Amino acid sequence: MTSDYGAPNVPPTDMRQRVLLALDAPTLPEALSIAMEVRDQVGGFKVGLELCTAVGAPAVVEAIGALGSGLFLDLKLKDIPNTVAGAVRVIAQQFGDNVRMLTLHCDGGSTMLRAAVDAARTAASRSPLLLGVTVLTSINADMLAAELGVVDSLESQVIRLARMAQAAGLDGVVASPYEVAAIKRACGRDFLVVTPGIRPSWATAGDQQRVMTPAEAVRAGADYLVIGRPIAAASPVDGGSAVAARRIVDELAAAL
Ligand code: C5P
Repeated sequence: MTSDYGAPNVPPTDMRQRVLLALDAPTLPEALSIAMEVRDQVGGFKVGLELCTAVGAPAVVEAIGALGSGLFLDLKLKDIPNTVAGAVRVIAQQFGDNVRMLTLHCDGGSTMLRAAVDAARTAASRSPLLLGVTVLTSINADMLAAELGVVDSLESQVIRLARMAQAAGLDGVVASPYEVAAIKRACGRDFLVVTPGIRPSWATAGDQQRVMTPAEAVRAGADYLVIGRPIAAASPVDGGSAVAARRIVDELAAAL
């Protein structure tokens, strides 16, 4: 696997590089096993809170990063600006080039986001791409109004937070494929959008509600696709994970 994601904020032309496998495993051996199987078929791996809580982020970055992929560290940071800046500084300095993408919650506010951007830029090594999480897809319009007191529509809130993230200097956001077009209209083509909620036509949706196929999502403007179970849980009868990943990349290449 190469770690070439193209220049910052420019999606790679090699479709394989745009597929990021979500390693939602509870242990490092399980995560490593699937990562090893598909390392030549995908552009990178997303690891998150479960694995980092279980074994520690340094161990995860060292093990998965050693595969040569640019790691997507989905830690969804949110705290006071000084604390988030400290975490971003540690990630940029200690993990260096191994972490290619890092997430933060946009609703931590613009001061927090700017502090994160400053910390990443002043770190000695190459900065990860900083991606904002706008409104979690587990939050629906009713919850947004009744629980969080946001009276605007969900899409307006997503766009508001994406614009704020862009103004603060973030490189992009994580969003549902159904929000990509509106975000690109509001923030421009160069503002990265990374989308989960991807299901090839031949895979089951599982608990994902609003899904698009890989080709539909890229046509809608998605720069990177986060895909988990359609690859990780692909049946050995159908060729297993490596075949599923290759099929997705082939579909992307054929459709675009
Ligand atoms: O297995 P599946 O393809 O549904 O995995 C999608 C990955 O993207 C999981 O790691 C999930 O936690 C993550 N994700 C998501 N929806 C969001 C944000 C992250 O599915 N809004």
